Amino acid sequence: MNVIVPPSMDKQRVLSGVQPTGNLHLGNYLGAIRNWVEVQDQYENYFCVVDLHAITAPHNPSTLAEDTYTIAALYLACGIDLNHSTIFVQSHISAHSELAWLLNCLTPINWLHDMIQFKEKAIKQGENVSMGLLDYPVLMAADILLYQADKVPVGEDQKQHLELTRDIVDRFNHQFGGGQAILKRPNPMIRHEGARVMSLTDGTKKMSKSDPSELSRINLLDSPDEIQKKIKKCKTDPYRGLAFGVVDRPECHNLLTLYMVLSGQSREKVAAEGEDMGWGQFKPLLTDTIIEALRPIQSMYTQVRSEPTYLESVLTHGRERAEVLANKTLERVKEALGFSRPR
Ligand code: AMP
Ligand code: TRP
Repeated sequence: MNVIVPPSMDKQRVLSGVQPTGNLHLGNYLGAIRNWVEVQDQYENYFCVVDLHAITAPHNPSTLAEDTYTIAALYLACGIDLNHSTIFVQSHISAHSELAWLLNCLTPINWLHDMIQFKEKAIKQGENVSMGLLDYPVLMAADILLYQADKVPVGEDQKQHLELTRDIVDRFNHQFGGGQAILKRPNPMIRHEGARVMSLTDGTKKMSKSDPSELSRINLLDSPDEIQKKIKKCKTDPYRGLAFGVVDRPECHNLLTLYMVLSGQSREKVAAEGEDMGWGQFKPLLTDTIIEALRPIQSMYTQVRSEPTYLESVLTHGRERAEVLANKTLERVKEALGFSRPR
């Protein structure tokens, strides 16, 4: 397998990341990684495992490193191609933490209090809310801005964080740019289908790693038996005939969308197929479709994990490449802010 990425000067740059908290699920795949893979040959891509974000909620130090490798291996297993993309670990490049600090000092605190994800997570964490959780979007802005990314492919839930990133850019350039755009304004890249995969146990809630019920999500590494069990038990409704977009049938819309996206069929075809179907007929079909869609990812994952030195070398090369860009931006930002240089 090849680990050298040829430099490309003329392509727009893409950056995205996923936290190494638990296993990746179908929401992460359809909302984010699959979209990275589909357009990677059109861009110069940077994909990081955002382990510094993973400690904004209570975490387990004995599994953090292993979870980080799992996510990096899943990137490769899902089809991230090193001829177009660089894979690295956020905490391996200290510029992420350093730029986050610099941006902290020009980000109004009330912008952060307004973040929906902060409010939701803060409620869940109760007494235990850290400064890090509030600061999460500023660290995310640092991730994106260090690489002067043009596009950021994410799920719908991250849109507000990207708006904040753009506001930080405008404020920084206005206050410290001296007429120059030192930081680049990134654009979100959000696909309509799969942008919001819902929980299997409640079609009004997002599929999430933090849901206490394993039955609420399909993980990319779930065995065929687990997938079958989860689809068998997933929430449905008492109606016959399956259709998209019917009010009061959120589960039906979600499951039909999963079937459509994972089987690669058009909406019209799936709508016609579902019209006369009952749940008893649809569930086995969906189960098989999910198992088949995940099979190649799982087999590639096993192969990548069986060669630990390969994964290490991917991450070392990734760090080396990413660090050059990150340090360049960090230097420009420090210069604009008026810092002295060490002699
Ligand atoms: P996280 O699991 O929070 O690290 O999210 C990683 C990526 O997956 C982000 O781009 C999210 O927007 C995306 N994502 C997470 N959950 C979902 C979901 N239920 N549906 C669609 N995209 C999602
Ligand atoms: N906040 C993102 C999420 O939870 C993860 C993330 C961190 C990210 N830094 C990023 C995504 C930079 C895109 C770009 O999904």
